[in-house]
Amino acid sequence: MRVLFVASEAVPLVKTGGLGDVAGALPPALRRLRQDVRLLLPAYPEARARAGRLRPAARLTLPPLGEAVLLAGRLPGTSVPLWLLDAPAFRREGHPYTAPGGHDWPDNPQRFALLARAAAEIALDRCGLGWRADVLHAHDWQTALAPALLAAERDRPATVFTIHNLAYRGIYGREVFDALGLPAAWWHPEALEFWGAMAFIKGGLAFADRITTVSPTYAREIRTPTHGEGLDGLLRARSERLHGILNGVDYALWDPRHDPHLPCRYGPGRLQGKAACKAALQAELGLEPDPAAPLVVHVGRLVAQKGVDLLVDAAAALWPRRRFQLAVLGTGDPALERAVRDAAAAHPGRMAARIGYDEALAHRMEAGADLFAMPSRFEPCGLSQLYSLRYGTLPVVRRTGGLADTVIDALPHHLRAGLATGFVFDQAEPWALAEALGRALDLYRDRRAWRRLQDTGMGLDFGWPESARQYLAVYRAAVADRDAAVL
Ligand code: ADP
Ligand code: GLC
Repeated sequence: MRVLFVASEAVPLVKTGGLGDVAGALPPALRRLRQDVRLLLPAYPEARARAGRLRPAARLTLPPLGEAVLLAGRLPGTSVPLWLLDAPAFRREGHPYTAPGGHDWPDNPQRFALLARAAAEIALDRCGLGWRADVLHAHDWQTALAPALLAAERDRPATVFTIHNLAYRGIYGREVFDALGLPAAWWHPEALEFWGAMAFIKGGLAFADRITTVSPTYAREIRTPTHGEGLDGLLRARSERLHGILNGVDYALWDPRHDPHLPCRYGPGRLQGKAACKAALQAELGLEPDPAAPLVVHVGRLVAQKGVDLLVDAAAALWPRRRFQLAVLGTGDPALERAVRDAAAAHPGRMAARIGYDEALAHRMEAGADLFAMPSRFEPCGLSQLYSLRYGTLPVVRRTGGLADTVIDALPHHLRAGLATGFVFDQAEPWALAEALGRALDLYRDRRAWRRLQDTGMGLDFGWPESARQYLAVYRAAVADRDAAVL
C-alpha cells in the first residue's frame, strides 16, 4: 500500500514532543511491513540541516497560499523516502510552532494550510512525482485540512487522521478562513466551523475516512464532555470510525542496553550500570551524592496538561516528612517554568530544575532516576512512562488516557500476581499524587519488591510492530470506506 504520512515534526529532524517520536518511528515500522510509506514534513532550517542529502523534486504553486519547492531525500537512519516542503514561512529559525516568548507564530494557519494543500497535491500525484498515494495519513491540527481537501476530490486516496492531542484544535477567526481560500460551504458546523470560528482539527474529524487516537482509553475519553474539548458530539457520531491504537516505543533509540547518551549501559539482570547512571545524574544536576535517596524525575512540556504544578505541590507536602530527591527538565509556560525554578531554589541539593529542551539529558534522566512522575490532567498516550518502564524507572502516573492503559498499580493483589509496574492515582490533586509518591517511597525500602517491579516493567514490549499492524488494518478499512462511498 502507498501511504503518504504528513506531520509537522518527526525525529531525528525536528521534535517538540511525542508526535515527533511517533512520526519518526511509525513510518519505518510500516515499511518493515512492506508498505510504501513516504513522509512529508516542513523544511524547517533545523530539519533541513539534519536531513543530509536533498534534491529539488518538484515546484508547487498553491494559490492563495503561495509557492513551495519539494526537496526529496530520506529520513536519516531509515529507508523512508522523505519530502521536505520548502517555503518562505518555514525558513524561520526557532521553535516550529511558537515565537520566542511562547506565543504561536502569527502565520501558523497559513503555514500549515500550505503543508496540508501540498500533502493533498502529492497524494493525488499532481506535482509530477509519478507516485500516487492509496492512503493519506495526517496527524493533529497542523495537517488536518488535508483529509478535508481530499474529500472534495473525485478518485481520491483514502484518508486517516490521528489525534495526538485534542486540546490543540487550531482555532482561528472567520478572516483567516476567508484568506485560506477554502470552499465557502465548509463554514458549517458539520465541516470546519466551530462556535463562530474555524477549527482546523475538524478537517480531520469530520472528513477523514477513519480517525485514530493514541490509546484505547483516550479514544473513550474524547467522546465525553470532560475530555472532548467541545468535539465529543462529533466524535460520538463517528464512533464506528474511531480507533484507539497505543503508541509504540522505538527501542533502537530508547533502551538502556545500548543508549549512547548514558554514561553506563545496563539492562534486565544487570542493573549495576543504573546505579552509576544515578550517581552521574546527581552530580550533573548538583544533587547530593546520595545513592540511598530515591530520585524522582519529570521530563515534559511545561503546560497545564502535564500537571507539573501538582508535582511541585506534592513534593512540598512530602519534604518535611520524607527523604527523596526531585529533578525536572522541561520548557513551556513561563509561569510553570518559574514555579519549578523557585521550588528548586528553595531546596538546594534536593531538587534540581533544568529549563530548556535537551534530548540527551532526557535519556540520562530516564536512566538515572528511581521514579518518573507523570501526574497528567489528561494524556492521550504518553511515551515517557513507556521509556521509564524499559529503563527500570518506576512510573507514578494519574489514571488517565494512555497512562491508565500502560501502568499497573502496585496494589497488593497486583504485587502478588507479579503484574505491578508502577504507581497509579486518580484525583488531579497534590494530595493524591503525594499519597502515590508516599507509597512508592515506602516500597523503595523493600529492595526485593522494588526489583520485581523493575524486572516486570523492563520485560514488557511496547515495540512498534504490533501498533504498525493495527494501523495497517485501519488503512485497509479506510480504503474500503472510500470505495463504499464511491459506489
Ligand atoms: P507529549 O507528546 O505530550 O509532549 P509524550 O510523553 O508523548 O508527551 O512525549 C514527550 C517526548 O518529548 C518524550 O520523548 C520526552 O522525552 C520529550 N521531551 C519533552 N520535553 C522535553 C525536554 N524539555 N527535553 C527533552 N525531551 C523532552
Ligand atoms: C501528544 C500527547 C501524548 C502522546 C503524543 C504522541 O503530544 O500529548 O500523550 O504520547 O502526542 O502520540
